[in-house]
Amino acid sequence: MSAISNNNGSITEKSENELVFLSSAELVKKTVARLSGGRRVFTVTDENVARLHPELLPERDVCVLKAGEDSKTLANAENVCREMLRAGITRNSIVVAVGGGVVGDLAGFVASVYMRGVQFINVPTTLLSQVDSSIGGKTGVNLDGYKNMLGAFKMPTHIVICPSLLATLPEREWRCGMGELIKTAALQPELYSFVTENIEKLNSREPFAVEKAVSAAANFKKKVTDEDPTEKGNRIILNLGHTVGHALEKCDGHKLSHGEYVMLGIELEFCMTDTDCDFRNSIFELLEKAGMPELPKYTAEEVCFAAKSDKKNSEWKITLLGEIGAGKVFASKMSGGEFVENYNAAVKAFRERHGRA
Ligand SMILES: NC(=O)c1ccc[n+]([C@@H]2O[C@H](COP(=O)([O-])OP(=O)(O)OC[C@H]3O[C@@H](n4cnc5c(N)ncnc54)[C@H](O)[C@@H]3O)[C@@H](O)[C@H]2O)c1
Repeated sequence: MSAISNNNGSITEKSENELVFLSSAELVKKTVARLSGGRRVFTVTDENVARLHPELLPERDVCVLKAGEDSKTLANAENVCREMLRAGITRNSIVVAVGGGVVGDLAGFVASVYMRGVQFINVPTTLLSQVDSSIGGKTGVNLDGYKNMLGAFKMPTHIVICPSLLATLPEREWRCGMGELIKTAALQPELYSFVTENIEKLNSREPFAVEKAVSAAANFKKKVTDEDPTEKGNRIILNLGHTVGHALEKCDGHKLSHGEYVMLGIELEFCMTDTDCDFRNSIFELLEKAGMPELPKYTAEEVCFAAKSDKKNSEWKITLLGEIGAGKVFASKMSGGEFVENYNAAVKAFRERHGRA
């Protein structure tokens, strides 16, 4: 990847949601130091990233979380804030997240509340976080199994994206990122063509294909979130697959990865709504090639109950996003009763299509 940077200077008051693409891990640390412009930096990472990519981390003021979704708690956010306080981090300092979506969501949340807000740089290290979660300023932690129940919008000043960091990602986490990548592709016709034509190359992480897909998806998310930073309008399209995906994740206690629930969510939501048939079949094929997981067995009522608690939903209506052709999305609201009926039909179709019991 040729080094592309939209901003080579240090952070200014106006810096927001800026993407910086880099070709090597060596450049990441230097770039974060340059962007920080000599201000104090507090880094949050997790144990896997600390072990696999020590070259990304500074010598001091690093908080290492346990890896995984269970770390995304208010208690951990409080612990990070406490460490920052002990280290003497002030309002003029910068929080830097180096890790996947869990680290980014939690560190961004900390940056939004610590001393009423400090600046934040995100260095995403998973496919999912490079194409999606690091961009657009949604931060948060989970509460009682419900995803991102406590959170804030906190735009990172910069998102430093280095696709070569993805070489160490376990296969399962790669598939997880493919879930969000396919979701984005479903919203963007050019990316959709690229991903369908290059799915084998993406599965085998061929660098050129990965760089191209990551940069297209990241730029698409930047565009959508720059236009609607607080999800008052069109940003809702990015929730495609997430009503059912989050509900399954809640029922299942995060046994699969987030992106795998999103894959399931996309397929089931498309079946539950009035989606164009050709497009639907094409995306089902793509999801299968990317590694569709087994569908966890929960009743429609259980999934519906979990979906009702989703932040997007009023008490009795569940918002699902269906796709009627790449780039064109509509929201389909349904009551609990309709959800149960449509979910049962979608599960039956899912099992027939995948030949699974
Ligand atoms: N804020 C948003 O807009 C948004 C959008 C989508 C998802 N999310 C959130 O993102 C989270 C999922 O993110 P994720 O899939 O990145 O999970 P994650 O942060 O748990 O990372 C997945 C695993 O990969 C490891 N890892 C990270 N980088 C690595 C690397 N380069 N090499 C090897 N291993 C590495 C981690 O240690 C972890 O074990 C969920 O909590 C989800 O809710 C947020």
